[in-house]
Formats: sequence, C-alpha cells, structure tokens
Amino acid sequence: MPGSVPCNPTPNRPVFFPMRLALFEPDIPQNTGAMLRLAACLGVGVDLIEPCGFVWSDRRLRRAGMDYLAGVELARHASWPAYREAQAGRGRLVLLTTAGDTPYADFAFRADDTLMVGRESAGVPAAVHAAADARLVIPMVAGRRSLNVALAAAIVLGEALRQTGRLPQTLPLSAAS
Ligand SMILES: C[S@@+](CC[C@H](N)C(=O)[O-])C[C@H]1O[C@@H](n2cnc3c(N)ncnc32)[C@H](O)[C@@H]1O
Repeated sequence: MPGSVPCNPTPNRPVFFPMRLALFEPDIPQNTGAMLRLAACLGVGVDLIEPCGFVWSDRRLRRAGMDYLAGVELARHASWPAYREAQAGRGRLVLLTTAGDTPYADFAFRADDTLMVGRESAGVPAAVHAAADARLVIPMVAGRRSLNVALAAAIVLGEALRQTGRLPQTLPLSAAS
C-alpha cells in the first residue's frame, strides 16, 4: 500500500471531535476490531500504521468490529514514515506505553491529541518512543506486565475525552427507553 489512504470518507463522526487513536503495527485482528468499534462509538478517528500482522479482510477483524467498521473515520498508513508525513502539523502524539514516565490521569489532554498504542507483541521501537510528545503509563498492580491493548486504549481515551469535554452525550437506545 503506497503512502496514506483515507478510508470511509463519510463516516458517522462529528467533525468537531478532532481527537484520534493511532494503532502502531497491530498484530491481533480481534484487538484492532475492538479498537475500531471503540472509536466508532466514541466519535474518534483512527490512524492504522501498517504493516499489520493480518490482512485487512481478516474475518476475525470483521467479527470484532462488526458493522461499526463502516462508521469509523479511518486512515491507513503504509509505514511509520508515511504516518509521520501525514500527521505533520496536527496535534501532539501521545504514546501509551508500559515504559511511560507520566501516569495518564496526571496528564492534561488537549482535544486534538492523538493517542497511540503499540503492537501487542513488542510495543513500539525506540525511535517511535522518542518521537512521541508524551509517554503515558496506566499504573498497575506490582508485578503485572501489561493490559490488553484495546483495554488500555479505552481507559486513556475515556479520560482524554472526559477532560476535554468531548465525551459523546447521546445515551444508547436501550438506556434512553
Ligand atoms: C500488550 S502491550 C505491549 C507489551 C510489550 N511487551 C511492551 O513492552 O510494550 C500493547 C500496548 O498496550 C498498551 N499498554 C498496555 N498496558 C499498558 C499500561 N499499563 N500503560 C500504558 N500502555 C499500556 C501500550 O500501548 C502497549 O504498547
């Protein structure tokens, strides 16, 4: 895939929600599907930095993302350099990492931040770690290695949207009736 390719050009996403979630070279299709669904539900765009450890048509990705996949504003990037080029001039790149120096709840998020998660098997390389504007950790009980990547994304995205007043205000249909 050359460069960066916008997908779903007319998603069901309010244009005034600029926050994004970036997935660095994800390995596991079910996690990617879950994060795409998360982004669709919370009104957040997604940058998928390839290569991925699965093909885009993987049925496990489709199953986890269900019909929410069509509602995500998604950009696929062929590589980390292609992503950097596409991201130039946007807001801060905020990396979630077990090697972070700032607990996520102590961080002052901005509405145009991009939250980036690493690959399931290896996180991100040192160059990507160094390129981030901030490196946040979700504190855990002593001796635990890491959270599932989709759960880590959900925890920090929820806090970032809450702090910036960008949590969706619509109740699910079942709760509203
Ligand atoms: C399974 S973890 C990767 C573990 C990998 N061995 C490493 O050392 O980074 C996948 C991704 O989830 C996120 N993550 C998981 N637990 C986290 C935590 N406690 N704090 C911040 N990010 C976390 C990070 O983005 C991480 O790259």
